[in-house]
Order: sequence, then structure tokens, then C-alpha cells
Amino acid sequence: RIKESGSQERSYVMVKPDGVQRGHVGEIISRFERKGFQLIGLKLFKTPKELAEEHYGELKEKPFYGKLVDYIISGPVVCIALEGPGVVASARKLIGATNPLNAEPGTIRGDLGIEVGRNVVHGSDSPENGLRELGLWFDQDELIEWEQHMTPWLK
Ligand code: TYD
Ligand code: MG
Repeated sequence: RIKESGSQERSYVMVKPDGVQRGHVGEIISRFERKGFQLIGLKLFKTPKELAEEHYGELKEKPFYGKLVDYIISGPVVCIALEGPGVVASARKLIGATNPLNAEPGTIRGDLGIEVGRNVVHGSDSPENGLRELGLWFDQDELIEWEQHMTPWLK
């Protein structure tokens, strides 16, 4: 379990296996960095099946659940921990709609995908799930609190 730090919100973002295989890792991380969110955790990771099942536990009854889990474990992912005001909702906005065909151009899914089953990236859907998912994907000592020397207009 990852403890909540002060009043800063946290989100779990992940480059899914298709995003890694297609070489979009740098571009995706860059979009969150340039928005102004702080990176507090980052790793390339081969997902154990039980972790993928737990992460998507709320979707267990959905018809696509089995394929979803197989997709997530089909290759390495990049686990990203982000911190900042409103980061959960803002990251979801930057990511775009679940189905890339419905996602606006300018969003990650809108720019980089065409299939709901290969939608490039994950983002937590609530601050509570942000903390839950960070606790699943990161060990406590993998999350690093550091002073970000921001320009005053971003503070
Ligand atoms: P969901 O949490 O609803 O979407 P999001 O990732 O935008 O929060 O669903 C989780 C993942 O399940 C989604 O990213 C892709 C996959 N999925 C399908 O494969 N088919 C579907 O019809 C839906 C709704 C989701
Ligand atoms: Mg979701």
C-alpha cells in the first residue's frame, strides 16, 4: 500500500504492451511531463498474470476480460507514477476516450490508436483507484518524493 502524501493527488499511468512495442514510450511520458505533472515512479515491467487480473478486477464479469488480461501480459509495460493537482482527471483527458476511434485528436489514444483492445495507455479513473493501483504496481521504495523546482507560474 502506498500512503497518500500530503494533499498531492497521485495517478497510476501505464504504457500498455502495444505502446511499448510500437516505440511510443518516450512520447507518452513526454506528454505528461510537458503538461507539468511530476514523475515519482517509472519502470519497464513484465506483468505477472495475477497482477493483471487484480488490476482489472472490477471488469471480471465483462466479456473482454480474458482477452484484456492476455493483452496486458503479452509484453513489457511501462509503469508510471504521477503526482500533481488534479492529476487523475487531467491524465484521463490527455489519454482520451477508451475507444481510440472515439478519442479526440490531440489525445494519446486519439493520435496513436484505432482499436479498443489495443488502446496504448492506462490511467486511473479516480484518486482512490490511483492509490490502489500504485500500491499494486509499485513497491513503496520505488516511489520517490523529490523537490520539483518549477517556474513560479506552474506552482
Ligand atoms: P475501462 O476501464 O472501461 O476503460 P479505460 O481504460 O478507458 O479506463 O476498460 C479497461 C480496458 O478494457 C480498456 O482500456 C480497454 C479494454 N476494453 C475492451 O477491450 N473492450 C471494451 O469494450 C471496453 C469497454 C474496454
Ligand atoms: Mg478504467
